[in-house]
Amino acid sequence: MSRPLVVLGATGSVGRQTLEVANHLGLQVTGIGARLPSPELLDLALSYPGAALAVAGGSAGDRKEFANSLAGRNVEFGSEALIALAVTPAQTIMNAVVGLAGLPFTLAALEAGNRLALANKESLVAAGPLVQTALSRGGGELIPVDSEHSAILQCLMGEDQGALVRLILTASGGPFRGWSREEMEEVTPAQALKHPNWVMGKRITVDSATLVNKAFEVIEANQLFGLSFDQIEVVIHPQSVVHSMVEFSDGSTKAHLGYPDMRIPIAFALTYPLRGPGLVGGFRWPGQRLTFEEVDLEAFPALALGFAAGRQGGSAPTILNAADEIAVEAFLTGRLGFNGISRVISDALETVPHSNPSNLEEVIEVDRVARTTAASLIVGAC
Ligand SMILES: NC(=O)c1ccc[n+]([C@@H]2O[C@H](COP(=O)([O-])OP(=O)(O)OC[C@H]3O[C@@H](n4cnc5c(N)ncnc54)[C@H](OP(=O)(O)O)[C@@H]3O)[C@@H](O)[C@H]2O)c1
Repeated sequence: MSRPLVVLGATGSVGRQTLEVANHLGLQVTGIGARLPSPELLDLALSYPGAALAVAGGSAGDRKEFANSLAGRNVEFGSEALIALAVTPAQTIMNAVVGLAGLPFTLAALEAGNRLALANKESLVAAGPLVQTALSRGGGELIPVDSEHSAILQCLMGEDQGALVRLILTASGGPFRGWSREEMEEVTPAQALKHPNWVMGKRITVDSATLVNKAFEVIEANQLFGLSFDQIEVVIHPQSVVHSMVEFSDGSTKAHLGYPDMRIPIAFALTYPLRGPGLVGGFRWPGQRLTFEEVDLEAFPALALGFAAGRQGGSAPTILNAADEIAVEAFLTGRLGFNGISRVISDALETVPHSNPSNLEEVIEVDRVARTTAASLIVGAC
């Protein structure tokens, strides 16, 4: 039913769940990639003896030790090694790498005409037009893995695109839902890393707490489904059971519901357009209360920044992503306050000159300038 699978970012939260789903579905795992030659990656390498191995980084010493532990099995090093996996013909490529580092793998997989299961949202946020070009040039498929976009894709199946009126993305509101901006001034990384409904990697967990993640998802939705930013809304839904909704011209709204468990959208991306046997049970309805609220844009200004950057287009979303990546790292290492994250993003969007990057090198250059600027804004903030 499904194609063989390559998992990039295999050691991360989405990567590991992808491997669990693949085992459950009986899919062949032909390649595994990650950043570091870590003990976690070694464990995975030993669990999948037939998979090609790619490691992007690591010191010369760590690489040597890793290769020695594989007792003669081949392992390739450097980003190019993950690109080589991404272009293996007739595969599904799960891109579960975090950050802009995932962009070259997205472009390579699509140019090669593969099915790309895209968890790396930064690709679409920072370089949406390049991703679209690679998709149409390579003739591959782009299947979203984010639960919200998987939900929308599922709601749209069999529908007439012309009857689409609005996309409504749900957001849990994160751990600080209902807090004022003043109350969030002293928030610690440990508090921000406690998401009420999802267990995820650190960056996306902090991004969920600031609503930067939702800002990214708005831009992703615009890229994936072709609706204008005026047709995309966000509503707070603390239970994370309704994963998103689509409104049609006749007044009907379709929603996708299920437990907040990434293994559901991951499985759908691997089996699309069919469905396989799930790892997660069906939703139990009695006693459930599903509620919806407006977003407090004063407390969470990052969402409005995301809409503005998306509308502006060009380099603005690239700057948004880069500044956030630097600001989140500074927050997690105690160099920036929680509210400082959206301040740094806003100042970077004001400061970095805008342009229209038209290739990977230009996106990487905008990203570099935005990171340097964000870093200097953080030093200035301390
Ligand atoms: N977690 C979720 O539930 C969830 C839901 C929706 C979307 N997403 C998106 O999915 C992506 C992954 O998120 P995550 O939460 O799984 O992140 P994570 O747990 O932090 O894992 C990140 C993975 O990326 C690898 N990686 C990092 N930098 C790399 C590089 N330069 N080259 C190659 N591999 C690299 C890491 O390898 P090492 O372990 O060697 O560092 C690790 O395997 C993000 O874009 C996120 O926004 C996540």
